[in-house]
Amino acid sequence: MTRNKINDILRSDQTNYDVIVKGWVRSFRNNQFIALNDGSCMGNIQIVIDLNSNESIIRKITTGAALSIAGQVVASQGKGQKVEVKAKEVTILGECDAEKFPLQLKNRPSLEYLREIAHLRFRTNTFGAVFRVRHSLAFAVHKFFNDLGFIYLHTPIVTASDAEGAGETFRVTTLPFENTPRKEDGTIDFNEDFFGRSTNLTVSGQLEAELGAMALSEVYTFGPTFRAENSNTARHLAEFWMIEPEVAFNDLEANMDLAENFIRYIVQYALDHNKEDLEFLAQRLVEEEKQKPQQERSEMGLIEKLEFVCSNKFERITYTEAIEILLQSPAYKKKKFQYEVKWGIDMQSEHERYLVEKHFRKPVIVTDYPKDIKAFYMRQNDDGQTVAAMDILAPGIGEIVGGSQREERLDRLEQRMNEMNISTEELYWYLDTRRFGTAPHAGFGLGFERMVLFVTGMTNIRDVIPFPRTPKNAEF
Ligand code: 4AD
Ligand code: MG
Repeated sequence: MTRNKINDILRSDQTNYDVIVKGWVRSFRNNQFIALNDGSCMGNIQIVIDLNSNESIIRKITTGAALSIAGQVVASQGKGQKVEVKAKEVTILGECDAEKFPLQLKNRPSLEYLREIAHLRFRTNTFGAVFRVRHSLAFAVHKFFNDLGFIYLHTPIVTASDAEGAGETFRVTTLPFENTPRKEDGTIDFNEDFFGRSTNLTVSGQLEAELGAMALSEVYTFGPTFRAENSNTARHLAEFWMIEPEVAFNDLEANMDLAENFIRYIVQYALDHNKEDLEFLAQRLVEEEKQKPQQERSEMGLIEKLEFVCSNKFERITYTEAIEILLQSPAYKKKKFQYEVKWGIDMQSEHERYLVEKHFRKPVIVTDYPKDIKAFYMRQNDDGQTVAAMDILAPGIGEIVGGSQREERLDRLEQRMNEMNISTEELYWYLDTRRFGTAPHAGFGLGFERMVLFVTGMTNIRDVIPFPRTPKNAEF
């Protein structure tokens, strides 16, 4: 007989049939009732064992132990569940020393503590819910693009370029630290390195995705991305996952429409498929917010917020308008912003959050940023000052998407690269697309973990990726 998933048993009204369930003990009371969880859903199944069971087995039924149970699904006599399993045979697959098991705690363990035991935190309700939702969102990403006819392009993880030009790359090398081969002028001789050149982990698959789009028209990437920015915030990871669609013949407007539809689609997918998990997470958030002062609590519940996003258009404003709103804001006038506000600044998180949380109270797409704070590849606007960029700002998160129409004109692109000291020789392959049949195109990058944060209502990005990599932290 094959294993029955607890989710299937709990969702069915059927009774009086034999099953085999396997999972981990969440609790055991009165030497008779086991709450068993196998991760297929939030809920535990109640297993009722015979009071006359073998005592040596009963002793091994402790929180955390792995069990296999053969039994019959019956209508439950007790409150709280429709069905339960009357055990015929209990097999201990793996014992768990209750004294040493870190999740034995009666009180709900803090998220900080659970981060220290990230290898075990999957066994909690919160992380079960988060990672089931994360899975659904990932699946929805592929479904959305597949249904639209996009090609999933696997861009490289090891590259020789720094797509964003921010110099925040992790080096990839097999050169020794001692007696590192050097050229006559004393600089490191990368000819001796594995790839015969200096290489790093990718900060974005965009440049390669653009090459694909110039033949396949509609592509997307979805892969790990690495940034060595030393920002120890609740929004930054050194290793995160990014989704980057790139579409030939799209302009900025079409790019915004795609991003908006995409976000709505994946949020709706989670609402449709993860109701139980989201309800649990919504309740968790309510509890968490009780700790905060009244004015910092969110006005909407988690599910309400997600439904709101699915049914309302995002606000669209230019960067220039955004700065104007900030300058006119009571927060600015009362000197509440820590960072300076004037045209040309790279908006700080406090500014972005003011726009979405206080001013518009919905996601906002900001377009046409000053060219000096954006990457070289963005299409230059006719005003000579701004580029056809778009960032999507989400309540509680800040920037969740960054994208643009791309500079498809070879002369303009080369001129901008020269101004920004980016080698046109090294990126000859990128420029070739502009030499051979260039076409308008646009794309964006969605930070997957920031999206998972938004949908789950979790507040720290370390809690929505199974094994977070942040400065000074790469355990597990
Ligand atoms: O705005 P970014 O840097 O844009 C790009 O990389 C473009 N090449 C995307 C494109 O147009 N194809 O990053 C895109 C998104 C951000 O909006 C943010 O959501 C996320 O990636 N992101 C991070 N997420 C977690 N940790 C970090 N350190 C992140 N850096 C960026
Ligand atoms: Mg950005």
